[in-house]
Amino acid sequence: MRIDVIAAVPGILNAPLNESIIKRACEKKLLTLKVHSLRDYSTGKYRQIDDKPFGGGGGMVLKPEPFFKCIEHLLSERDYEEIIFLTPQGKKFNQKSANKLSLLNNVMLICGHYKGIDQRVIDTFVTKEISIGDYVLTGGETAAIVFIDAITRLLPGVLGDSESALTDSFQTDSGFDAPQYTRPSEFRGMKVPEILLSGDHRKVSEWKLETGKAKFKKIKKKK
Ligand code: 6GU
Repeated sequence: MRIDVIAAVPGILNAPLNESIIKRACEKKLLTLKVHSLRDYSTGKYRQIDDKPFGGGGGMVLKPEPFFKCIEHLLSERDYEEIIFLTPQGKKFNQKSANKLSLLNNVMLICGHYKGIDQRVIDTFVTKEISIGDYVLTGGETAAIVFIDAITRLLPGVLGDSESALTDSFQTDSGFDAPQYTRPSEFRGMKVPEILLSGDHRKVSEWKLETGKAKFKKIKKKK
């Protein structure tokens, strides 16, 4: 899969995307990730990427020209199945949409910033508007990190244990993973459930399913 991200503040994306599983996915060529700085596509003396909104109101709006230049450049090189604008007004991102989007070959992500982006960019290119939750972030860059993380771990070969993406929370019927423990079996007087030490795989699976369900019910009640 290839993901191209267009960002006004590309620096936000660098560190988190160059660590751990996402880094490994790129090294293994399972994921190609390209971050494009909007400023690189800005003309004019001061390489300005934002301007005051027509009709007044506070904040600055990202100008259309740098977006058009960057997107048209990318489109001249390949087709994109989706051009996604990350915005709090978009459709809510969840595990189901992550599963679907992880099957695509080429995806473009557009990060907004400040008060927003010029509507003509959205009208011309955007195929989907996605929000990562009901709260407002300062920019789409952090949302892009969340999006890329959720998608990358679903790509075949990315996770070591081929089962782990399928059995984790929100993929199982119960809705949640069972609680996990590691050594020591007793820590500050707190013991690991006996059944996990039993070596009885069938009983362990049953226990995991049941406790996952119980956890799901408990958390649902809290909400
Ligand atoms: Cl995608 N962008 C911004 N700026 N805020 C958000 C969001 C996206 N999703 C939830 N809040």
